[in-house]
Amino acid sequence: MVSQSQASVPSHVCIIMDGNGRWAKKRFMPRTFGHRKGVETTRLAVEFFARAGVSHLTLFAFSSENWNRPAEEVGSLMELFMQSLQQYTDELNAKQIRIRFIGDRGSFSTDLQRQIGQTETETAANQAMTLNIAANYGGHWDIVNAVRALAQKVRDGVVEPADIDDRLFARQLSLGDSPDPDLFIRTGGEHRISNFLLWQLAYTEFYFCDTLWPDFSESEMSAALAEYSRRQRRYGKTGEQVEVPG
Ligand code: IPE
Ligand code: IPE
Ligand code: MG
Repeated sequence: MVSQSQASVPSHVCIIMDGNGRWAKKRFMPRTFGHRKGVETTRLAVEFFARAGVSHLTLFAFSSENWNRPAEEVGSLMELFMQSLQQYTDELNAKQIRIRFIGDRGSFSTDLQRQIGQTETETAANQAMTLNIAANYGGHWDIVNAVRALAQKVRDGVVEPADIDDRLFARQLSLGDSPDPDLFIRTGGEHRISNFLLWQLAYTEFYFCDTLWPDFSESEMSAALAEYSRRQRRYGKTGEQVEVPG
């Protein structure tokens, strides 16, 4: 039996890239060592999912709550973002990948904000895949922002309160112009969302694995896609309603 409503390759994959710190700790190395190794996996994942035909990839790089880490770790993560953008923008550009940032970028240094803007501008016309990097992102922040934008539109007389429905609301969110994620992956063994895309994950398929992000290999990425292709997405219907003879 083949599910009617589902393509076997997800259009939109989102990932919580977790486990860098523990990966380093196991090797008696500073957490930053794990973050550096994690960047290499990120590069591999972008290439892998683009090749697999995924059109949107959203990666959680830094949450609104990650500011609560020791200042030294936050500082080195900011440095690593800057270096990675400088190092990989050309490569991603050559692969026709568009890069966008979601999250509250106002808290980053002026230099980092400038680099983020530059990367977005340079890659804006690329069409092979859209890579969304969630940096200083939180699902609560996103929803509150959307509410604020809608409240302003009501005050300006552009929107009537009665016109607010889930479609209009969703358009105000960070990924309002993208399809919702089909597949959510979290490495590192934790079974939680950690304030990632709360609204957008309403009907996403979840895939959790224990592998720490720096060890997440191409064969494990393939395994996640294979598992997705076996899922039946019912959206409230019965299994019989969504099955067609295969
Ligand atoms: C994820 O790895 C990367 C960021 C949050 C920036 P962690 O740093 O959370 O690694 P663990 O969970 O401590 O192993
Ligand atoms: C979530 O990971 C954020 C990123 C991967 C960037 P955390 O490791 O910060 O999540 P919690 O705090 O363990 O839930
Ligand atoms: Mg973690």
